[in-house]
Amino acid sequence: MKKIGVGILGLGTVGGGTYRILTENHNNIACKEDLDIQVIKVLERSVERALQKGVPASIIANNIDEITANNEIDVVVEVIGGIEPAKTFITKCLMSGKSVVTANKELISKHWSELEEIAKKHKTGLYFEASCLGGVPIIRSLVEGMQANNITEIAGIFNGTTNYILTKMSEENMSYSDALKEAQNLGYAETDPTSDVEGYDTMYKLSILSTLAFGKRIPLENIYREGITKITKSDIESGKELGYTIKLLAIGKMYNNSLEIRVHPAFVPDEHPLATVRGSFNAIHLVGNYVGEIMLYGKGAGDLPTGSAIVSDIVYSAHINEPRYIKFDCAVEDKNLVTDFKSKYYMLINCADKPGVLSQTTAILGKYEVSIESIIQKGKHKEFARVVFLTHKTSELSMMKAINELKKLEVVDSVESVIRVLE
Ligand code: HSE
Repeated sequence: MKKIGVGILGLGTVGGGTYRILTENHNNIACKEDLDIQVIKVLERSVERALQKGVPASIIANNIDEITANNEIDVVVEVIGGIEPAKTFITKCLMSGKSVVTANKELISKHWSELEEIAKKHKTGLYFEASCLGGVPIIRSLVEGMQANNITEIAGIFNGTTNYILTKMSEENMSYSDALKEAQNLGYAETDPTSDVEGYDTMYKLSILSTLAFGKRIPLENIYREGITKITKSDIESGKELGYTIKLLAIGKMYNNSLEIRVHPAFVPDEHPLATVRGSFNAIHLVGNYVGEIMLYGKGAGDLPTGSAIVSDIVYSAHINEPRYIKFDCAVEDKNLVTDFKSKYYMLINCADKPGVLSQTTAILGKYEVSIESIIQKGKHKEFARVVFLTHKTSELSMMKAINELKKLEVVDSVESVIRVLE
């Protein structure tokens, strides 16, 4: 039976889950895969934490050199997160001939080509199934299961924390701050939740998956990103009345050889499969020109789901004699993303409640060719009428110009919310 030695960098939540799966499920994996996978060393600053997770003191390393110099280690799992020291450690491991498995979406989305070059030069493997959607095997499905296709669209819910918060706001009428506090108490959200709630985490994952799906690299700064911090209970209530559920969506589309890549909250029609993805679950919907639609759903975070993806990469790397690399020469950088995409919009304005106000507002929308599907007056806020506009599919730039002009109208107090609507 082939022996595979593993080193683990970091024994936090995901490192602990990986260690548990590798030890608890060792015999089953050995039987199914004909592989004897042993954890040889674990690098963890807190010895106490490692011991609590059942790691014997004899295999706790003090520094990265103990991992890179160990000839019994074939694969190193990096689950420290962030850029440094993860990048330096991964580089050292690749340069010492070890394959690397990582869950680090930020690092891969920012330094993928550089790390892949090092892996290529040293004929080692670089695997990151766990970086996108935790336990959902999306990378393997894309890379190994959809090669026949040109992927035209990916869309999904890539962040469990924000989906948990939005679900609580929708189903239990919680405020954003209460739902965030609950997510933090349950360990879903970090003490500093910025990466999740402002859409960075979703953006990193969308960048990696878009490169794999569309064969183009997209500079992160060119991706449109908007988080969920401005979503209010009132938006959610209005959405419900119109038959929509609010979600933080990642959207990537390829058409006419152009890419549209964006992250933002959106109203999803209740009957759309993504509307049914509740709590901390993730899902991705893909369209290939031959296969048609595919949807994957599962846990996007947590020790065992993410550990499951990591162990699958370890097994995969053990079976591969010659690692494969993404052809970065094919994956040309595309900075010219479509910015004037088309969408339906929900817009709530607070305006004077008197004759002629609606005609002034609709005149501006008309001037920018924004066609209205419906208008609903929803009571009052102070002395102002609250009016919801639902548009037909329209150009983003036209909509933004119209909103700017609406804000200048004397009869308009504020444009309270603008939310895109998925069709
Ligand atoms: N923080 C992420 C989420 C999991 O809430 O989905 C790791 O990417």
